[in-house]
Amino acid sequence: MRKLNMYKNKTGGLLITFCGLDGCGKTTMLSRLAKELSQTCEVFVTKQPTDAVRNSDIFRTYMDCPDHSGYDYRSLSLLAASDRLQHVSKVIVPQMEKGKVVLSDRYFYSCLANLRARGFEGDRWIYEAAKSVIRPDIAFFFDVPVETAVARVRSRPEEETRYIDMELQYRLRDNYIRICRKNGGILLSTEASPEETYTEVIYRAKEIMEAKK
Ligand SMILES: Nc1ncnc2c1ncn2[C@@H]1O[C@H](COP(=O)(O)OP(=O)(O)OP(=O)(O)O)[C@@H](O)[C@H]1O
Ligand SMILES: [Mg+2]
Repeated sequence: MRKLNMYKNKTGGLLITFCGLDGCGKTTMLSRLAKELSQTCEVFVTKQPTDAVRNSDIFRTYMDCPDHSGYDYRSLSLLAASDRLQHVSKVIVPQMEKGKVVLSDRYFYSCLANLRARGFEGDRWIYEAAKSVIRPDIAFFFDVPVETAVARVRSRPEEETRYIDMELQYRLRDNYIRICRKNGGILLSTEASPEETYTEVIYRAKEIMEAKK
């Protein structure tokens, strides 16, 4: 695995991203951070991939059905990467240029984690595409055992019976940890209470905001 050669943030704003398995705690931590930071600065909350990709047939088939034989995973990966590039350049960066703190629920790293976890470890195009993506000021990666993450997803009434490929989750977890280490991310366990994890999240966020002043 190579480092993703994202470009440096030269805007007056900040970007903080949240990645990890479904159910690891991204939205919980992002919402708390948004609430606290918005008392003192302008915050813009967003997510990837956008609804255009989430609602596509290919995305829904991969998320909801065990049989994906009608689709090629690379096609979904390219679609998601394209969506992320557009979102970075036309949504995230313009908000950062206004001096805002942008919080993104998932980011380009998830594309690499999924591509690798699906068996495309040798693909080079994703490293080329990453050059058009702005590097977050903080990239949080939340980590929990797969069983814990899946139990959290299943505890949501609407996802109680959702299709989840366990083997894929193990590979994803492993890839997220490696991507975090390779790209200077912050790996935090969400096995303990949300309060404990949040203490670290707010500490890191305030630290980077101080450094930016
Ligand atoms: N330390 C922790 N940090 C974050 N969430 C935690 C922690 N401990 C327990 N939880 C619980 O785990 C669940 C995480 O759900 P959340 O929706 O935040 O995950 P997610 O990563 O956004 O999932 P998805 O990828 O499916 O959107 C919440 O119910 C939260 O209360
Ligand atoms: Mg979420």
